[in-house]
Amino acid sequence: AMIGKGNYPHFMLKEIYEQPGVIGDTLRSMWNPASGAIDLPPLDIDLAAISRITLVACGTSYLGAMVAKYWFEKVARIAADIDIASEFRYRDTPLEADGLAIFISQSGETIDTLAALRHAKEAGQKTIAIVNVPESTMAREADAVLPTLAGPEIGVASTKAFTCQLVLLACLVIATARARGAISGAEEARLSNAIAEVPSRAAEVLNGDEAIQALAAEVAEARDVLYIGRNTGYPIALEGALKLKEISYIHAEGYAAGELKHGPIALIDDTVPVIVVAPSDALFEKTFSNMQEVMARGGKVIFMSDAKGCAHIGKEAFATIELPHVHPFVAPILYAIPVQLLAYHVAVIKGTDVDQPRNLAKSVTVE
Ligand code: G6P
Repeated sequence: AMIGKGNYPHFMLKEIYEQPGVIGDTLRSMWNPASGAIDLPPLDIDLAAISRITLVACGTSYLGAMVAKYWFEKVARIAADIDIASEFRYRDTPLEADGLAIFISQSGETIDTLAALRHAKEAGQKTIAIVNVPESTMAREADAVLPTLAGPEIGVASTKAFTCQLVLLACLVIATARARGAISGAEEARLSNAIAEVPSRAAEVLNGDEAIQALAAEVAEARDVLYIGRNTGYPIALEGALKLKEISYIHAEGYAAGELKHGPIALIDDTVPVIVVAPSDALFEKTFSNMQEVMARGGKVIFMSDAKGCAHIGKEAFATIELPHVHPFVAPILYAIPVQLLAYHVAVIKGTDVDQPRNLAKSVTVE
């Protein structure tokens, strides 16, 4: 059937707004309503016997892999490597006999990711494909498939597929942690409850769209924009910068907040917006002090936070985007949304072809 934009001016905006619904659909496919516990479809892979995880993808899907690396290490206590598919496939990295390789792709057809999957299989890895197109080549070739239920994504810049990947990966991390005996029942319940809240919290984030739109004019004036974050906020900073580049054509960089002083701080003056991804986690104070370093150099800080009283503590910032308070585990899923919205509104001001940005393709099936 033809997919329309409904009442939205662009597919991208429609897909951003579909997130509470499709995140919920994806979540319910991995949830046991009777027990309230995460319950993956049968995988045919013994998660307890895995010695190491390798996550491989391209583009925004790669940033999903990066979030998952932090989660696997912290929650499931398993070593996780990440790689860009076009590097992984040619690098000939040594892979452990009991390794699991996870391939993440909206389309399931990206040629570099597909080649990396074939390479990993040949190297004896167990393989899982996380794809949004269940009949795709990656889904057919992997040992196991975990489908995201984002529905067809038309906008070239991935949005809803990304947040669905994250929610699915969060569930896979919990299942892995449980299989390995790395998590207590109480902690598992806390994290599962945090995941269960994501659809409604995502809807609350969307309610703040007007405030984000109001900032877009300022960002649209910039030549360069920086995004900083720590821990799982770091891949979200990278994703914010990627989205902005892709659709507004403004140069943007994502940086680990702690690495700012090793380079990009040299760029900062009062023409450079700096988007600070600052969830209320164990590293909040550190991120906050990086933000103060930016402000001391005149940088125009846009402070995104769910910390209690953030509007007040961020009063020196150029602007604060206040997010609903969530468990830090799920923060990257929620913080993905305001960075999408900001990029979208800036692109609309710039008058670019938001759904079909120049030089980019929805699915890259040539090398
Ligand atoms: C292209 C798209 C991106 C996407 C990437 C990976 O570059 O423009 O939005 O993240 O491909 O695509 P995949 O289908 O493998 O997730």
